[in-house]
Amino acid sequence: MSAQRALRLVLLGPPGAGKGTQARILEERFGALQISTGDLLRKHVADGTSLGLEAKSYMNSGALVPDSIIIGMMEDRIKGENAFVLDGFPRNVAQAEALDAMLLRLDKPLGAVLLFEADGETLIRRLTARWSNPRTGRTYNSETNPPKVAGIDDEDGGPLVQRPDDTFEVVQNRLATYDAQTAPLIDYYGNDGLLVRIDGLMPIEAVTAEVMRELALENVTPA
Ligand code: AP5
Repeated sequence: MSAQRALRLVLLGPPGAGKGTQARILEERFGALQISTGDLLRKHVADGTSLGLEAKSYMNSGALVPDSIIIGMMEDRIKGENAFVLDGFPRNVAQAEALDAMLLRLDKPLGAVLLFEADGETLIRRLTARWSNPRTGRTYNSETNPPKVAGIDDEDGGPLVQRPDDTFEVVQNRLATYDAQTAPLIDYYGNDGLLVRIDGLMPIEAVTAEVMRELALENVTPA
């Protein structure tokens, strides 16, 4: 795979596997914009838009937000960008087919789909200990990746909060939703030859090093 193609990525994996963490690192180091459906939806919820009002109940129960909302929202977001890391999209086969059609129209083929793998016990432990900055989406973890001062973002000094869908009960639903609706994308992209499996259980920096090795990213000039 060429390094240039590698900068159009889909990050796949269950909740808590580290998609957001790695997407932000790839953005900082290589200039490939992180586009997170979860962050876009949470912004709509915080702003009280009609889209946010519709999405909120699905998100708070651990279900997927309807494709009719997601696909239009993502098409708008992707079309002006050349290099991007899609974090949390696509999440089912219908979304993957819509993305394929969109990227074909835009003549922007995907470089790779990174699948971050981790076991359920680790995912639950990570999510119930996650703290994030609602303004920037930056995440910390009170056990594995704590901020210097508890409850405060190292970068901008803003307050850190726990997400309403990171309770034990909702996390269980999110994992079940992933198994039923998102895991089929492993075969979908495996058949395309785009899938790269990454061990998400390693420490954050080791996961990043593995991603860079797989994608030969040391050769890339930041966009
Ligand atoms: P979204 O925000 O996308 O949540 P998610 O996919 O469930 O993923 P998370 O953000 O919880 O986990 P992550 O893999 O990014 O892990 P992170 O890096 O933060 O979606 C939320 C909701 O929005 C969905 O449930 C759905 O309702 C809706 N939605 C979103 N997209 C949609 C779509 N396309 N269609 C329909 N509905 C959609 O890491 C987790 C924690 O672990 C952090 O504390 C981090 O510091 C820590 N950590 C990360 N990596 C490591 C490591 N290697 N070692 C130790 N700790 C680590």
